[in-house]
Order: sequence, then structure tokens, then C-alpha cells
Amino acid sequence: MKSILIAGVDLGTTKTCAVIAEVPQDPILRRKLNILGVGQARTVGMHEVITHIDETTESIRAALAEAELMAGAEVERVYVGIRGDHIKAMMSPGIVAVEDDEISRHDIERVHEVARAVAFPPDRELIHAIPQEYLVDGQRGIKDPLGMMGTRLEAELYLVTGSALAAENIRRSVHRAGYHVEDLILEPLAAARSVLTVDEKEVGVAVVEIGDATTNIAAYFDGEIRHLAVLPLGGVAVTNDLVQGLSIPFADAKKTKELLGVACSQLVDPKEMVDLPGLVGGQTRQVARELIAHVIEARMDELLVMAHAELEKEGLLSKLHAGIVLTGGASALQGINNLAQQVFAAPVRNGSPGEELAGIADSVARPRFSTAVGLVLHGFDRYKETGLGASNSSSGLIGKTRKWLREFF
Ligand SMILES: Nc1ncnc2c1ncn2[C@@H]1O[C@H](COP(=O)(O)OP(=O)(O)OP(=O)(O)O)[C@@H](O)[C@H]1O
Ligand SMILES: [Mg+2]
Repeated sequence: MKSILIAGVDLGTTKTCAVIAEVPQDPILRRKLNILGVGQARTVGMHEVITHIDETTESIRAALAEAELMAGAEVERVYVGIRGDHIKAMMSPGIVAVEDDEISRHDIERVHEVARAVAFPPDRELIHAIPQEYLVDGQRGIKDPLGMMGTRLEAELYLVTGSALAAENIRRSVHRAGYHVEDLILEPLAAARSVLTVDEKEVGVAVVEIGDATTNIAAYFDGEIRHLAVLPLGGVAVTNDLVQGLSIPFADAKKTKELLGVACSQLVDPKEMVDLPGLVGGQTRQVARELIAHVIEARMDELLVMAHAELEKEGLLSKLHAGIVLTGGASALQGINNLAQQVFAAPVRNGSPGEELAGIADSVARPRFSTAVGLVLHGFDRYKETGLGASNSSSGLIGKTRKWLREFF
């Protein structure tokens, strides 16, 4: 029997990460997705958006090849993350007359179509159209109107658009690597999918995914997405501060941050000294760990205050009763929860993928994988809803298609 595979590729600034997962054959076991393979490659040619297609293509190819090798299967179609300050979101209403007395799937599809029919300029592309709420004969707050009696159906859709050029460059890089884009998924939505619980989204929560060059934010309450934002600041800024502050090379600064860094200087013993590489090769020098923490804290505080201001500007802070979930590679920094609790004056927890996963789930149970795992979980949701959107399975034919695509480009 052919297995149903779903693949995702997260194009981050530092790493391109591919995940291949399998939908369990037995429908009873379909509460979980089996992770089969994970591949990572250093990203080249990418900042907030793709800057060099050839280099990005190579990163995608390498990450997917590694994931395929581990999974022992090839894929053809992949879900890919998109982000950047070109992303915009808006609410769009739609209204239709119900065809019979009872609201049918067809009525719901029609009202979605009406709400989606917004004229975008040619340089924008619709990425997501997410139903927020339905109204039946003027009554608000309906989540699923299917089968309800009524004559007038209204829908509020949350439309997310992005630069058509940025989207096209992603498709082109993926295509050149020998794959097809099944769909583009907004990164913060993917991260939210893998680390937030349904209850948190209901009560009110924001996921703050701190990557290398960017920080993605997605806020939810009453079970629906309410705000998306991307901040142009992430872990690399901390590394650069350590390069300056400690006069050490970038690679050493990154290592120091990841191994010894603390985001809340109160947590560090002021007497603790640590060894750092010296300016003369092979030598080391002693530095107070508290000093390193001060440098890190200043930058992380700036980042978290920006995230706080973004949520405050949207009037969301009082609605986030479940608080803040931190994820993304840079959220692995020690003491970051303490600092975030001080900034947000709200509960803070760390989020790593794990829920709804089986197979080699341990290999993706780290905050840096939340976007990549969220992509395959989005594909899983779509497959469960529609039976579509799988990434295919291994067969000689797919291998041949890929080879042809590679030769063609
Ligand atoms: N243990 C750690 N402590 C502190 N920082 C860490 C740790 N592990 C990773 N990082 C930092 O996380 C960042 C990379 O995070 P991530 O992998 O989420 O980024 P990315 O997806 O490549 O980038 P972006 O999403 O911004 O494009 C780097 O700055 C790295 O130094
Ligand atoms: Mg990222």
C-alpha cells in the first residue's frame, strides 16, 4: 500500500529545514503524524526574503535530500514557509442568501468565495483566507454554520496577502531544486500550529518565535488568529553585540551565547568567571559571566519590548489570558522566560513541537523546529479535511520526474 507523505521546508536565515512525515494508514491512528525524516542545510542567499535563487535552491535541495534519505522515501510536493514585512492581513466580510432553508457546504463555499473576492493589486498574492466567524440571519459568534436553519449567511474571513514576487521566488527555488510547492504557509501560523494548544488559542495567547534575523508573532483569542507581525530582530543581533562587546570573532560569540548566555542577568552569580578565547591565537581570558548576560539582556529586552508594543498597539494584551509562548531557535537562551515575564507581566512558557507527533518526534522536539513541524501539521490538517495536499510517496516515477526537472533547470 502506498504511504501518504507530507513534507515541509522552512527557509530560515541560518538553516533550511525539511521535515517528512507520514499519515498513519489506519484512520483510528490519525490523531498523530509520524515524523520519518528531518534534514538541515545551512541557508545561503536568504535574509527576510530570497536574495539569491541559486544558493537558496541548493539549500532546499540539500535539506530535502537529507530528509528523504532518513525517511527512506522521496517526496514531490512540499509545504513551504513564507514571511517578511511584505505580509499584510485584513478582515473581509461576505454575504449570501441561503439556497435552501438549511445551510449547506455549498452555501459556505459560496460565502467564502464572496469574502475572498477582493481586488488585490497584481503585485500581491492571497496566501491564506481563514474563516473567523459566521453570522446567520444577523446572529453573531457562529463557528460552524453547517446544517443550521437560516436565510442569510455572512462570513468574516481573515485574508493574508504577500508580495507576489517573494512568493514566486520561493516557488522558483523549490522548483529548481526538483520539487513543487504544494502551498505557501505563513511562518508564524506554522509555528503557532506546532506549539500552541487549542485551549490556549481559545483563552488568548501569543506565540513569539525568535529566529536569527526575524521574530514572528501570531496572537489568538476566541480560537481564531487575531494578529500577525514580523519584527526585524532576532538572535543574530545578540551575537553581533557580543562580537562588539567582548571583541571576539562571530563564531566564538555565537558559541558563547548558546553555551554560556543568559538573558536575565539577575540569574547569574556575579562572582562567576568564564573562559573566552583570547585575541592572541590559542590563549584564553577570563570574563564575568554576568557581563555576557548584561549584553544579552539589553538586546533581548529590546526585542521583547518591541513584541510587547506590537501587541499593545493592537489592543491585544488584555485578551491574552494564557500569556506568551516563546519558540524559535533563540528562545533556547537560558533565562529568557524570566525576562519575558518581567516585560509582559504575564505567564510565559517555552514551546517545542511534540503534540500530535509520533515516529522520530524526539528529533524535532526543539524550539528551532517549530516552523518546519508546523508546516507538515498544516498539511496533515488539510489532508484530514479534504483528502488532498499529500506530498506523494516513493515510486520510480517521482525519481524520474525530479531528475527531469533538475536537468531542465
Ligand atoms: N541554545 C541557544 N541559546 C541561545 N541562542 C540559540 C541557541 N540555539 C540556537 N540559538 C540561536 O537561534 C538562532 C537561530 O534560530 P532559528 O533556527 O529559529 O533561526 P532561522 O529560522 O534560521 O532564522 P529566521 O527565522 O530568523 O530566518 C541563532 O541566532 C542561534 O544562535
Ligand atoms: Mg525561522
